[in-house]
Amino acid sequence: MTPEQLSLFVKAAELFTPSAPIDDQQLFAGRTRQLQGVITAIAQKGQHVILFGERGTGKTSLSRVTSKIIKEYFEKSVHAVHINCDGIDDFDSLWKTIFHEAQIEITEGDMPNGITPEGVRFSIQKNLNSQQQEKMLILIIDELNELRDSLTTQLLADTIKTLSDHCIDCTLILVGVADNVEELIAEHLSIERALVQILMPRMKKEEVFELMDKRLEILGITIDPNLKSAVMALSQGLPSYVHLLSLHSAQSAISANRKSIETTDLQNSIGMAVQKAQHSIVSSYHKAVSSNQKTLYPKVLLACCLASKDELGCFTAAALKGPMKIITGKSCEISTFSRHLNAFCEEERGPILSKRGDSQRKMLRFFNPVVQPYVIMHGISKGYITYEQVIGESAEA
Ligand SMILES: Nc1ncnc2c1ncn2[C@@H]1O[C@H](COP(=O)(O)OP(=O)(O)OP(=O)(O)O)[C@@H](O)[C@H]1O
Ligand SMILES: [Mg+2]
Repeated sequence: MTPEQLSLFVKAAELFTPSAPIDDQQLFAGRTRQLQGVITAIAQKGQHVILFGERGTGKTSLSRVTSKIIKEYFEKSVHAVHINCDGIDDFDSLWKTIFHEAQIEITEGDMPNGITPEGVRFSIQKNLNSQQQEKMLILIIDELNELRDSLTTQLLADTIKTLSDHCIDCTLILVGVADNVEELIAEHLSIERALVQILMPRMKKEEVFELMDKRLEILGITIDPNLKSAVMALSQGLPSYVHLLSLHSAQSAISANRKSIETTDLQNSIGMAVQKAQHSIVSSYHKAVSSNQKTLYPKVLLACCLASKDELGCFTAAALKGPMKIITGKSCEISTFSRHLNAFCEEERGPILSKRGDSQRKMLRFFNPVVQPYVIMHGISKGYITYEQVIGESAEA
């Protein structure tokens, strides 16, 4: 490669970041409604935020970018702190970490009986009052789903209540993987007025396009709209796969000394994505479809990935009919694959899917949504489906 090619190659790797949340506003794509929701809540005293959704949809990135925007545009001095919960955290350890990160000193006298919601409120208020300049605190508590102890979330709800009742200039942003707020904080009803709930869905087509365009423009590389649609279909709106496919497509074009991404580049990137998939994803795929004989499991799982889904990634058995017809080349009734769907919900095959909904409307869902793009790309590499068919199918969905 020439020095110019090498420099572009490196630049592509800097711009497309499949494994890391982003905090650069310029590179942050879409999410306008969610961003506005969080910013409004921060600006209003007494309001706090809970940001929830499937794994890998961009919750951490949104919370990081929001605090950057607030720092830039608010007149007050803003101090934002971001911490991650883990399985052994309780209320006490959580707040010790937050106070440490936020450089808030607490003395024995402040909380003689250990850390309590009132004690937290008092310490934050004392800290804000001691500043010369008017100051605002943003505390982002991420990975809330990791907390094992329900007392901790109850005490967090009490903390939100007291911070809100006393109009303290401190916003808590709770972030976690969940379908609904109850899963993260069962006591949310007691603080409903004070807690703004924001769902982070998968990315829409326009958001995926914006993510790619912003970065490709910096690289001076173009891409055909059909290939962008292909990335949308393959990634299933999960931004880390948009980054991954775009990165390898761009690098493939750069290596061939071209300024435009072509079909072969995207095909190369699919191969790379399958080869470089995380071990955990590959093994959950093999566990789900394994058999000594030739079975329908791989094709039914692929059809699950292509089935049209709601905002939370749920789909019905009936939604598999269309994709099954394309994959097998013939019309299939639900009875052809219902046995396989049930097996996917059993321990023996992962379970890779979970059932939800009532008897009227049974829904299915991937335990880990991130396996879906892998299954699709693996299906393409095995010849079960062409990538043109994947695009066609997702356009219909
Ligand atoms: N708005 C966005 N614009 C561009 N890239 C994004 C955006 N949101 C997320 N990403 C990218 O998507 C990937 C996942 O983002 P992030 O880690 O923020 O998701 P998450 O929901 O916090 O994931 P998890 O549930 O695993 O904690 C990262 O590669 C990140 O760079
Ligand atoms: Mg995260």
